Amino acid sequence: MKAFLFDLDGVIVDTAHFHYQAWRRLANEKLGFDISEEFNENLKGVSRTESLERILAHGNTTLDEGTKAAYATLKNEWYVELINKMTPDDILPGVKVFLEKTRQSGIKIGLGSVSKNAKPILEKIGIVEDFDVIIDGTKISKGKPDPEVFLKGAQELNIAPHECVVFEDAVAGIEAGKRAGMKTVGIGQAEVLKEADIVFPNLVNVEIFELLQALF
Ligand code: BG6
Ligand code: MG
Repeated sequence: MKAFLFDLDGVIVDTAHFHYQAWRRLANEKLGFDISEEFNENLKGVSRTESLERILAHGNTTLDEGTKAAYATLKNEWYVELINKMTPDDILPGVKVFLEKTRQSGIKIGLGSVSKNAKPILEKIGIVEDFDVIIDGTKISKGKPDPEVFLKGAQELNIAPHECVVFEDAVAGIEAGKRAGMKTVGIGQAEVLKEADIVFPNLVNVEIFELLQALF
């Protein structure tokens, strides 16, 4: 195994919750309905514009293109207000140690996020330097479940997809990893991430040797 490719939102930091908060505020204040945490699972890993489309369909609402663009921008402004307060203390438990163990094992480290805010978040939490490659929403044209983000990561590292393992909290992200021909590690609940090869609640105490043995 030569590379580990990590999703950002929900794997490295708890921003999946901030995305939900900002979309929920938009649904409540502008669209006149609520979105549940369960529905929010459908938004994880999905691009900003596709998330809004899914929310509108969920609420049986249609909007003209101009209003959609304005609402996507508004959601992002609220989201950025939330992430602006982030510090290295917001790195999820187990992540730093797991990245160190990965580095010590000689395995390359990549980021595969469809978020256009990925780079500023990594800077705020102080871990840009930990990544050999960063693929974010500014470098891709298709969100997850399309495999583009992970295939690009493997390509930039010059490593074959089957030698990569994807770490994901999203159903769409697990599908993207599988479609890229990679092994997938779910971070979250096994009932939700049914298609993942293996699922952990978080990266605390995850041992690389044992993980690779379970995967191969
Ligand atoms: C993903 C999140 O990482 O990025 C999605 O899981 C989000 O919820 C997507 O919609 C796009 O993010 P952004 O920051 O560019 O709106
Ligand atoms: Mg995620």
